[in-house]
Amino acid sequence: MANLLATKPIDEILAEAEEREGVTLKRALGPINLITLGIGAIIGTGIFVLTGQAAATNAGPAIVISFILAGIACTFAGLCYTEFASLIPIAGSAYTYGYATLGEIFAWIIGWDLVLEYLFGAATVASGWSGYFVSLLRDFGVQIPPQWTATPGTEMVFYAGRWSPLATIRPALEAAGLNPNTLPHVTAHFNLVAFLAIAVVTLVLVIGVRESANINSAMVAIKLGVVFVFIGLATVYVIQHPAVAARHWHPFLPPNAGHFGEFGWSGVARGAAVIFFAYIGFDAVSTSAQEAKNPQKDMPIGIIGSLIICTILYIVVAGLLTAIVPYRTLNVADPVAVGVDAIGVHWGSVLVDAGVVAGLASVMLVMLFGQSRVLYSMSRDRLLPEWVSAIHPRFRTPWITSILVGILAAIFSSVLTIKDLSELVNIGTLLAFVIVCLGVWVLRVRRPDLERPFKTPGVPVVPILGAAISLGMMASLPLTTWIRLLLWLVIGLGVYFSYGRHHSRVQKVLRAAEAAVQAKR
Ligand code: ALA
Repeated sequence: MANLLATKPIDEILAEAEEREGVTLKRALGPINLITLGIGAIIGTGIFVLTGQAAATNAGPAIVISFILAGIACTFAGLCYTEFASLIPIAGSAYTYGYATLGEIFAWIIGWDLVLEYLFGAATVASGWSGYFVSLLRDFGVQIPPQWTATPGTEMVFYAGRWSPLATIRPALEAAGLNPNTLPHVTAHFNLVAFLAIAVVTLVLVIGVRESANINSAMVAIKLGVVFVFIGLATVYVIQHPAVAARHWHPFLPPNAGHFGEFGWSGVARGAAVIFFAYIGFDAVSTSAQEAKNPQKDMPIGIIGSLIICTILYIVVAGLLTAIVPYRTLNVADPVAVGVDAIGVHWGSVLVDAGVVAGLASVMLVMLFGQSRVLYSMSRDRLLPEWVSAIHPRFRTPWITSILVGILAAIFSSVLTIKDLSELVNIGTLLAFVIVCLGVWVLRVRRPDLERPFKTPGVPVVPILGAAISLGMMASLPLTTWIRLLLWLVIGLGVYFSYGRHHSRVQKVLRAAEAAVQAKR
């Protein structure tokens, strides 16, 4: 049993990191760069797609409260991530923190769980991206055959100048007194657009991108530009049409529709668990601790700063979006563009489509990159086979892993709905949050001696609240999502007990030490 909790010495992790990078990474990132990095990874499909879907089916205008709830959980978890990031300031992730502090089995669970966050996360973003891409082409009169824009078996109906899944526009058709059978309709084969998006990003990763701060800054500028254009146009509209906004916001908290998660307070809770996706990515800041000029001071500013900025923007966008259009009409692939269209500013919706298409590419890149980094670390520790960390001789990238991850992400993005994908990502990431939050507390008790450059304030209250709110959000996700998570973890433990445990480097060192002690006796 003790071996399952074997930890990897922090000195070894730091030495390995240096050996891997050849030279120590340049410490070039200041607080502003770190905040920019965070915003680049955070703003994506969550705010641009899931907000509309969660407002339409879970919370109504009260989606604003969902954003506040999820933002609080992320801030607490963010403080805990920061403590770990400053304790082990190397290019790593929750997997590395887990290995250094909680033990191998927890590290494995977190690493396996991170596949849900990164691989499935990239698939979710690709799915969201496809909606805006199709919409952008339509702005220019190009119609991609609808059979290739949705998951297999989706009934697509042509209504109001666009193809939409029947399930999402049924309420609108009923309200208009239309029989879907009288409209042009087709059944989708699979989402080829999302598939190709992942394929292209994977190619870029294999050939090797020097993550450039300039490209990231440009992406952040584009995404913030989209958000500010929307906020500007929507604010003017609301000021000019206060009665319309008041009508759309009434009732602010629609009464529960008879099922858990469909409006009412349970809808707000499920809404929080759905739009939680919008906050994922702030942990990316922690992975650049090695490149921060002053990680102890600047990491918390980077993580918490980017979280606060995004939380405020999200609340404002969600509030305005539900004010300018009836929330029930937001269950579409490109709700923010639909919102701008409703205002009647056509150039605005084209701009939103184009900005989102450009901006989401960077989120896919960060996620697929993060995934190959985590698998690479797990393979170096021999919890996964050696070939996983094989480096391409010319491109110097972990190409086999990147291609495998890319193929899986492309397949998932093209056959699973954005709802199923995002809920799986969220439950997996929330589980990682729970472990990280509790890990901070446990480690304070077990290893009070460790030097902690950044200390999470209010321990144990903050970690407990972070874990409790995360657990609460997990609990409000559908049962099927829980079953998928458990299945995923069972498969993971199967892989660990049949492979990782026997090949693990840390276990080998332990066994050798034990053998030496036995021999002495
Ligand atoms: N937070 C990121 C997004 O919303 C993952 O796309």
